[in-house]
Amino acid sequence: MQLDDSNLPLHERLANAVEAAIATGQFQTGSRLPTHRQLAQQFSVSIGSVTRAIDTLSARGVVRGEIGRGTFVLEQGDSDDGGVVDLTVNAPPPVVPLARLNEASLMANRQALGLAHGGYVDPSGTERQRAVIADWLSQSRTALKADDILLCNGAQQGLHLAFAVLQPRSNIILTETATFPGALAAAANLGMSMAPVAIDDEGMLPTALAQALETSGARIIYTTPVCQNPLGFETGPARRRELATIARRYDAMIIEDDIYGVYAAKGRLTYRELAPERVFYVTSLSKSVTPLVREGVIAPPPELMAAVRKRLRAECWGLPPYIGELAAAMIETGLAGDAASALREEARARVALTQDLLGLGAVPMPDGAPHVWLAMDPLKAEQFARRASEAGVRITPPSATQVGEAPVSGVRLCIMAPAARATLTRALKIIAGILGSDEDVVV
Ligand SMILES: Cc1ncc(COP(=O)(O)O)c(C=O)c1O
Repeated sequence: MQLDDSNLPLHERLANAVEAAIATGQFQTGSRLPTHRQLAQQFSVSIGSVTRAIDTLSARGVVRGEIGRGTFVLEQGDSDDGGVVDLTVNAPPPVVPLARLNEASLMANRQALGLAHGGYVDPSGTERQRAVIADWLSQSRTALKADDILLCNGAQQGLHLAFAVLQPRSNIILTETATFPGALAAAANLGMSMAPVAIDDEGMLPTALAQALETSGARIIYTTPVCQNPLGFETGPARRRELATIARRYDAMIIEDDIYGVYAAKGRLTYRELAPERVFYVTSLSKSVTPLVREGVIAPPPELMAAVRKRLRAECWGLPPYIGELAAAMIETGLAGDAASALREEARARVALTQDLLGLGAVPMPDGAPHVWLAMDPLKAEQFARRASEAGVRITPPSATQVGEAPVSGVRLCIMAPAARATLTRALKIIAGILGSDEDVVV
């Protein structure tokens, strides 16, 4: 345990060091911290500085002092505020400890101030920023080099760029029967339309995809193969091979939205690996680390790299370079990797909790997923979303994810959205109550 060398007051640096030790498990939740005297000796500071640091940590809700007993480490973020629960936003709970973010931002500050042209760097991101995340993704998902990728503002911009660059090939994008509302919005913004392809529990059916390509003339496929949003399935390697073969046969391009790749349980084979000449690989740090640093990554087929770069430069001149530095620092300090592991662990626990409280049998991604799909007939799904909202649990209206004419038959529960697991538990009990009642809402 060491104090950082920032210019922060001593007691804050001490508080940060103790918080970092809690985050890394050196001081366990519920345990008693060493005495003020012991901490003073350990850090070579005065007892007065320790007292101020402990006051700071109490104010942050990290520890609690008990008269005559000592100072105890509190459970982080596990209290339910009792308010409306929002299960509409696919956001991960906060797993980034302040002290670790401080450490990364200090590193980012130093790097950022040294950037060329005061920060007007290459619109694709600096070579270093791209190398750091390419390396991280290579270790965890798919082989990428710095020159294969561009950094952008979230996966959302990555999708918009891919759609825009591919638009001359066809105005129709084929996708699953329900999809991410942001993808629908991006397509609509460009005057493009999305058409559904029939699915089973692994994704698009090869025969249905071939038929849709044949009859619609579409030459663009958008898919989220890991934890599809909203339907929650994962496409395994055999199905990916079949679908990639069909895409090649029809000379169709695939936009692979791997934003939930951190939860992949069926191996690492990506469409990018299968068909690099026709795949736009898109991901971001939003779901695997934190949406605070919405660094998006897009790896287009090599011959379309220049077109994507041109468009990115015209739209916004790329990711703000400070965010690129912060993301790189989060990866280099190990914070990103630890956050990803913490999210996977949390997601596994939350899926089990959801199965238990809702009495669900098998779910498509039992090892952890950020959202769970409850299948039900379309009319019931809309009613259910409305009744849940009235009971204090907000759920995205199924129609928001609808592709084509057929209404969506189910609802998505964003189980990672509540910061505290206790809040999710309360929401799931409310949902179980609604599922258990036969009352129909007149529409
Ligand atoms: C499937 C999918 N793709 C892309 C995005 C957008 O990601 P970002 O926040 O990085 O822009 C989301 C966000 O919810 C998503 O669910």
